[in-house]
Amino acid sequence: MRVEEISTWVQDARKAFASATDLDSLKTARLAHAGDKSPIALASRGLGALSPEDKASFGKVIGEAKAEIAQALADATAVLEAERDRKVLLEEVVDITLPVNRSHRGGLHPITIIKNEVSDFFIEQGFAVEEGPELESGWLNFDALNIPADHPARTMQDTFFIEPVESGMVLRTHTSPVQIRTMLTQEPPIYVVCPGRTFRADELDATHSPVFHQVEGLVIDKGITMAHLKGTLDNFARHMFGPDVTTRLRPSFFPFTEPSAEVDIFFNNRWIEWGGCGMVNPKVLATCGIDTDVYSGFAFGMGLERTLMVRHGITDMHDIVEGDLRFTRQFGVGL
Ligand code: PHE
Repeated sequence: MRVEEISTWVQDARKAFASATDLDSLKTARLAHAGDKSPIALASRGLGALSPEDKASFGKVIGEAKAEIAQALADATAVLEAERDRKVLLEEVVDITLPVNRSHRGGLHPITIIKNEVSDFFIEQGFAVEEGPELESGWLNFDALNIPADHPARTMQDTFFIEPVESGMVLRTHTSPVQIRTMLTQEPPIYVVCPGRTFRADELDATHSPVFHQVEGLVIDKGITMAHLKGTLDNFARHMFGPDVTTRLRPSFFPFTEPSAEVDIFFNNRWIEWGGCGMVNPKVLATCGIDTDVYSGFAFGMGLERTLMVRHGITDMHDIVEGDLRFTRQFGVGL
C-alpha cells in the first residue's frame, strides 16, 4: 500500500461522485468508491495486518482519505437531492390560478320556496295540503263551480282546451277544481289549502304568464262566517308580508262564491289586489253533496307569482319564469 495510491482513490471517488448525474448513478459510484468492497474499505480492513508503525501512519492517511471521500459524497448527494427536489416541485406544481369547474349547490326556485312557505303556514293551523291534476275535466274546472257554459272564462281566449275537444278536458285555469275534488271525497269539517300550477292562454309579458301558480284555501264546517274568512286572510297576509300589513275586502263576483270579494293588502303605502275570496256558493256545496243547512264555508285563491312579485318588488314576470340563476340566488337556496 502506498500513500499515492490512497490519494488516487480519493481523486477517483471525487471524480465519480462529481460526474454522477442523478441519485441512482451516485449510488453506483458510492458502492464502488466508498462501499464495503471499495479500495479504501479493503485497505482499512487490511490495517490490522500491518506493523504497529505502518498501522499508525497508514491509519491516519486512510482515516483522512475516508473523511474526504465521505465529504465528497455528502456534497454530491446534497447537490443531486436539491436538483431532484427542484424537478419534483416543477413537475408536480399545481397552478392555483387556473379557473376551476366549480359545481354549484342546487337550489329551489323562488316559487317553490313560497309555495312551501304557504303550505307550512297552513299546516301549522291544522289545514291539510291537497293537490289535483293539471289536466282537468271541464266539469270540475267549470260546471261544478257554477261557471256556466257561456261564461267568458270558458272561451278559447282564456282556456287551453285539450284535443279532441269532445274529451271535455282542459288545462285547469285555476286551483278551484281541487275544492270540488276535496268536497266530493271528504266529509266536513274540511280545512285544506291547494297550491298548484294553473294555465291560461295569455301571452308572457311583464305581469302575465300562460303557466302560473295559485294557492286555494277551503274551509267547510258548522257555523263558518265571513269573519273566519277575514281572520284567516289577515293572519295569512301578516305571515307573507309582515306584521304591519292590513287587508280589505272589496265586493266582487265569482260564480262559486256568494258573497264574493277581492282581497287587497295595504303594503308599501298602497292598496294592492292580492286575490279572490268569498263564502262557498250553496249551489257548489249542494253539487258536492254537502248539507247546506248544516255546513257553510269560505274559499280564497291567490297567485303565487303575484304574491312573490309584490313582496319582493319584482317588476317583470320574465325574471320568475326564465330560470336565470342570478335571479334565483337572491332568494337563497331554500333547501
Ligand atoms: N279561482 C279564482 C280565480 O282564479 C280565485 C278564487 C278562489 C276566488 C276561491 C274565490 C274563491 O280567479
